Amino acid sequence: MENYLEKVEAIQAGLWAPGSWQNKTASQQPIYDDDAGLQSSLQRLAQLPPLVTSWEIESLKSQLAQAAEGKAFLLQAGDCSERIEDCQTDAIVGNLKVLMQMSFVLTYATSQRVIRVGRIAGQYAKPRSTETETRGGVELPVYRGDLINRSDFTPEGRRADPELLIRGYERAAMTLNFIRSLIGGGFADLHHPENWDLDFANETPQAKQYHNMVHSIANSLKFMESILDRSVADTKSVDIYTSHEGLHLTYEQAQTQRVPRRDGWYNLNAHFPWIGNRTRHLEGAHIEYFRGIENPIGLKVGPEIKPEELVSLVQVLNPQNELGRITLIHRLGAGGIGKALPPLISAVQKAKQKVLWCSDPMHGNTFQTDSGTKTRRFEAIVDELTQAFAIHRRMESILGGVHLELTGSDVTECVGGATGLTEADLDRAYKSAVDPRLNYDQAMEIAFLIAEEMVV
Ligand code: PEP
Ligand code: CO
Repeated sequence: MENYLEKVEAIQAGLWAPGSWQNKTASQQPIYDDDAGLQSSLQRLAQLPPLVTSWEIESLKSQLAQAAEGKAFLLQAGDCSERIEDCQTDAIVGNLKVLMQMSFVLTYATSQRVIRVGRIAGQYAKPRSTETETRGGVELPVYRGDLINRSDFTPEGRRADPELLIRGYERAAMTLNFIRSLIGGGFADLHHPENWDLDFANETPQAKQYHNMVHSIANSLKFMESILDRSVADTKSVDIYTSHEGLHLTYEQAQTQRVPRRDGWYNLNAHFPWIGNRTRHLEGAHIEYFRGIENPIGLKVGPEIKPEELVSLVQVLNPQNELGRITLIHRLGAGGIGKALPPLISAVQKAKQKVLWCSDPMHGNTFQTDSGTKTRRFEAIVDELTQAFAIHRRMESILGGVHLELTGSDVTECVGGATGLTEADLDRAYKSAVDPRLNYDQAMEIAFLIAEEMVV
């Protein structure tokens, strides 16, 4: 039997600093052959202006606290892994449009505030299950995301290149700059939901259902405004926050800073960094890094975790039991959630830990087709999500969010859904470099399903 209490106390007795994680074991870190180049990149990164501010971070934290109490809902979604070459107008706008459409459905079906968080503007580093990949007898380092190396299967492509840290940061800044301009410029104005229409999607059943909803809501908005004689939809209150897996610790450390007139250290790379399921070792470097920053943080929870281990992780990451600080993103699989989730909820309830529970129905449902393509079955995703709502309800707990991998492009990466994509369709438009994403129709189908779940 592991003595978790002792471990927690030992971690908490250690002095934290932005670099204190370097004394612990850091899994999933790239190996660079050019140390001078790496140091130079890190130094430049630390001097660049930050991507986000502590005001925004604190504002998100207080909204997540609301979601934990069932007064708001977290919609966290985007690419599995962003690519530097996809930092393009259409891809960014497409993802934003789906996020806006989904949140529109959720807000109006449930009358709840929806907190929009993109897996965007920095989701460039990926954990992998092996160190190397072998093709045709040739073995090379595995692709770890565009922040680290390239997916091309060549020795040069797979070399960890410190310059990519700067390229990724710049692309994240460009993406975020564009998002901020769109939002500030009226893209998110509820009076003009036509801004979020996707050209290719107008004829699908999901698009029609969505447009019917938009139409009736636009009418009631006009009606209310004519009675009140003022605008009721405040476009400035629409926010989109950024999130990515805080995997590459030297990269995250470079923008970990103190800010004027606030206590503590902020990670100014993203509003809401999360800890992946593969790096959440209690005594490991990732937990050490995350315990000292002020941001709200996500913790991915996979099926192998033990209830006492989860409670210990939450204790280390949130010793003050601050509401909004921790989001537990469970990804247990449709076949595993029924057994795995209840003891986790019970343990957290018993420890009186304040957390926001969020369901990631994607990462526990990945499989390979006979021809070797990584995919997910839409029905399994829906199944896990439906079970998640039911289990939390039954246990008087609150499922306050969902975490999805999706895209505004018309891809064929997950099978199933109303349009009935089969394994034979996957090759047609499979674009993800890592995990399979929901396409527009599948994403909207899920939004309507969550809306239904939330009003029961
Ligand atoms: C991911 O979110 O892309 C991911 C790798 O998830 P997990 O850590 O839950 O496996
Ligand atoms: Co993924």
